[in-house]
Amino acid sequence: MGKRLPSSPFLSLALAFFFLFLAKSSDALQVGFYNKTCPDVERIVRKTVIAFYKNDATITAPLLRLHFHDCFVEGCDGSVLLNSTATNRAEKDAKPNLSLDGFYVIDTAKAELEAKCPGVVSCADILALAARDAVSLATNLVSSGRWSKDYNMYQVETGRRDGNVSSESNALNNLPSSFWGIYKLKRNFASKGLSLKDLAVLSAAHAIGNSHCKSFAKRMYNYTGKGDMDPLMEKSYANKLKKQCTATDTIRVVEMVPGSSTTFDPTYFKLVIDKKALFHSDEALLRSQVTRDYVFSHVNNNTGFFHDFGVSMVKMGRNQVLEGQMGEIRKICAVRN
Ligand code: HEM
Repeated sequence: MGKRLPSSPFLSLALAFFFLFLAKSSDALQVGFYNKTCPDVERIVRKTVIAFYKNDATITAPLLRLHFHDCFVEGCDGSVLLNSTATNRAEKDAKPNLSLDGFYVIDTAKAELEAKCPGVVSCADILALAARDAVSLATNLVSSGRWSKDYNMYQVETGRRDGNVSSESNALNNLPSSFWGIYKLKRNFASKGLSLKDLAVLSAAHAIGNSHCKSFAKRMYNYTGKGDMDPLMEKSYANKLKKQCTATDTIRVVEMVPGSSTTFDPTYFKLVIDKKALFHSDEALLRSQVTRDYVFSHVNNNTGFFHDFGVSMVKMGRNQVLEGQMGEIRKICAVRN
């Protein structure tokens, strides 16, 4: 007769926890979540991002920002991708989101993934992967001097599910403002599980892309309502920006880093130090010891900064994710199933 396992209540409990852990871990956010169910997912997303990038290198910034705006509102659940309906104004239609772009890249990747592995890969994960691929493309040009399609700045955990809730008011209540100071930024980031260091690191996403004049024009024209300039903006730079933006301009955009809107590197920190970054929220990084030290110590440290950026992006990507059976896997990213 074979040996029987001793039937102790402790053993049963331990086994129950073990199986619970197994069930939980296979459903949880992890690198390679789709290895068995859709092994080509990373290749397909990358190929899609590269195709759009080759046509227009400025696509990297909107993809990175899209993931950030997704994660800060209702967690990283693809809710920023949902369209408004007759009865609901979605996140997409909140004022700070009207300048979002790059949705078509996610939709293109999703269409191919639905054809290959129907109902398997979430829109939230496609967005997280596309953001990583975008920033890697923008970085690689700098770090190696030549373009390699295989370069990944960091590994993306996948296994997110798509959420069903998307509301304009949630977006307005959760997205940080470019006019905020360090205290509000710290509180906002802390509410997403992110530290002051993460704030300094992730703000450097403003190394790529553009901003509409209206997001910072007040700093040059009417900072405190008395027709004055923000004293924390370098004067000659403010005057230069005035030539690009009128006080009430709603159309025009300005490069975050002049002459380098598609190159991701820590030179953004140099602009912050020189008081030439566009937003009050960028300048605010000089107002806490932690963020200030980070800015000064990483302005010439590409390798350290790239490493930290990956760590902070992974952390941001864990915010309030839906796992297991929660939410859904959308068929089309802009509409619920
Ligand atoms: C710290 C708080 C932040 C504030 C207040 C902020 C605010 C803004 C604003 C106002 C714009 C310009 C929008 C426009 O007028 O066109 C912008 C652009 C951008 N933001 Fe942020 N942002 C913050 C953090 C982040 C983070 C954490 C990321 C990504 C990890 C990010 C990525 C970007 C990118 C890439 C752009 C350029 C988008 C484009 O060119 O289309 N931002 N941000």
